Amino acid sequence: MRKIVAISGCLAVVLWNCFTAASAQSPGSSGPPGAPSPTPPAMKPSASNVAGEVHGDPAAGRAIFFDAGQTENCRFCHTLGDRGGHVGPDLRKVATMPARDLFLRIVAPRSAAGSAFAAIAVTMKDGQRFVGVKRDEAPDAMRLYDTSSVPPVLRTLLKTSVAAINEADEPAMPSDYASRYSLKQLLDLVAFVKSMDPTSRAGVTLKDLF
Ligand code: HEC
Repeated sequence: MRKIVAISGCLAVVLWNCFTAASAQSPGSSGPPGAPSPTPPAMKPSASNVAGEVHGDPAAGRAIFFDAGQTENCRFCHTLGDRGGHVGPDLRKVATMPARDLFLRIVAPRSAAGSAFAAIAVTMKDGQRFVGVKRDEAPDAMRLYDTSSVPPVLRTLLKTSVAAINEADEPAMPSDYASRYSLKQLLDLVAFVKSMDPTSRAGVTLKDLF
């Protein structure tokens, strides 16, 4: 009988320990079971879980930028660090731009009318229509990066076959990166572009984007 009491006593201690561990209380430190427990230390904001302290990782951003497996990959159109395409501007030139502006240009691209990279729509005399960015032109022909698909296709269009050239309704850059990438991946991309800024080596945090 004494043995049974001892065993059940042991069990009670084990159960009590379980309970107190689950509610993050130390045994005997506060009131009866069910009483409100103080906030466990792990729930308090710490340096690693305050939103403003999430750091962009330039190496992870570089991997996304040059990721050959991504259909709308940045490097098809942009050069950064001497690699990549020339459909859009060399992003080394915008590395000094504030992180917030870079972020906005990635998630909500705009076509600056009149810029060398502005999107144009070319209507041919046979009714075909091409949208993209003009690469260059000769007296009798122009070359256009057709951005209706990514990677863009370089087309040579004879000027005698062109009926009209207008500003395009949409920018040449895809506008779905906000849904294609997570916020952390976008932060990493911004951090990668900013890492090319020779005037600043300060990292980028999530707080810098808003
Ligand atoms: C299909 C081609 C294409 C792809 C893919 C693309 N961009 Fe762009 N991007 C452009 C063009 C063209 C412009 C210039 C728009 C203008 O000036 O009218 C641009 C502009 C930008 C700008 C603003 C530059 C400035 O001078 O203001 C940033 C930043 C940028 N892109 C980043 C990215 C990143 C990061 C990715 C990948 C996640 C990406 N782009 C993918 C074509 C592309």
